[in-house]
Amino acid sequence: MASSPFTDPAFHTDRYPTYAALRTASPVLRMPSDGATTATVVTGYDAARQAFTAPLSKDTGAYFADRPSGRSLHPAVARTMLATDPPEHTRLRRLVAKAFTSARVDDLRPYIRELAEQQVGRWQPGTEVDLVEELAGPLPVTVICELLGVPPADRAAIRAWSTDLFATGDHRRIDDASHALAGYLSELISTKRTHPDRSLLSDLIAVHDEDAGRLGEEELLSLAVLLLVAGHETTTAAIGNAVLALLRHPAELELLRTGPHRIRTAVDELLRYDSPVSIATWRWAPEEVELAGTAVTAGSPVFVCPGAANRDPAKFPDPDRLDLGRTNASAHLAFGHGIHRCLGAPLARAEVEIVLAVLLEHSPDLRLAVPADELVWRQSRLVRGLVALPVKL
Ligand code: HEM
Repeated sequence: MASSPFTDPAFHTDRYPTYAALRTASPVLRMPSDGATTATVVTGYDAARQAFTAPLSKDTGAYFADRPSGRSLHPAVARTMLATDPPEHTRLRRLVAKAFTSARVDDLRPYIRELAEQQVGRWQPGTEVDLVEELAGPLPVTVICELLGVPPADRAAIRAWSTDLFATGDHRRIDDASHALAGYLSELISTKRTHPDRSLLSDLIAVHDEDAGRLGEEELLSLAVLLLVAGHETTTAAIGNAVLALLRHPAELELLRTGPHRIRTAVDELLRYDSPVSIATWRWAPEEVELAGTAVTAGSPVFVCPGAANRDPAKFPDPDRLDLGRTNASAHLAFGHGIHRCLGAPLARAEVEIVLAVLLEHSPDLRLAVPADELVWRQSRLVRGLVALPVKL
């Protein structure tokens, strides 16, 4: 059996030719996955939307129960809300949505701007910086720490553990980081129980619903882990990919420079063009199900690819072109779709928007410091993001 194209290093440098070839073969395709498994890969737009609402399971615990992985991930990391099905998912999502409101995101906007301005304000004109290391990496994790109420002194450790959790292939490092992070957050939850503050974590401890009750200790811990992890690497990638796309399309960049009011809608096209969550999280078919006319057999893992769906020419004409005037860009699936649609989308959007606005104001002459084909991309199936983005100011 041929190996999966997702493990080929060339795939990570430029995924789009592979996605196009897979989509042309079939928008829903059976192909080899890790080891001996045959997986179903969904690359067409309509098929991906359908897959996000199909009766597929996200319960990884049930899938791996009789397929031991030999891993020792902390359960709070292994089994988050993103790996649950209804009715468990419905209950958790309802409780967290009560605490994580749009008002909370709006309250964070001035803080996000202050952080971005502080960072960009340190840069000297004419010098070179790595935009991932200096802005796209630290900003999202600092924002989530602020949201959850992690004291500033502990944020560097959180960032290190969170980075380790994405160390693709290095299982030992990932598993160790999962225990360190969960241990830290467990202590933080105890502290907030006795000393509640205005943080999201304190609100999650207090949140209550007549039908859904309260969040239990393990649920709280895994939600805290999920918010930290889901909101960090994805947003880092979103910022890096957006800035790179604009630097490679000077006419579109100029549109934003002369009309910063366009940033809000531009974010949709940027997320469509180079989607940070390129292949969605683990799903599988507990029973046979049909997707866009193709049968998915019971037990098959299903990889839904927003990165491919968002370049489907049947939905987005001339999909490989960045076009900030595209009228249906907001139909993208970069935040997923259906019951697991990204809970942090308003926050992620706010961060990307604010960072772009601050960069346009402070660094009008920003340009790439190396040729685009020398940039190094992360070797992750899930996240499409840059390891570094060297820019000249
Ligand atoms: C641009 C940045 C982001 C992108 C592209 C993104 C993308 C996604 C996607 C595609 C999903 C669904 C995954 C699936 O169904 O397999 C998801 C779920 C989720 N995201 Fe995000 N995300 C981003 C930022 C954030 C932030 C900042 C937070 C929180 C602070 C967050 C929290 C979550 C949570 C909690 C879920 C699980 C929802 C559920 O299971 O009901 N995300 N995200």
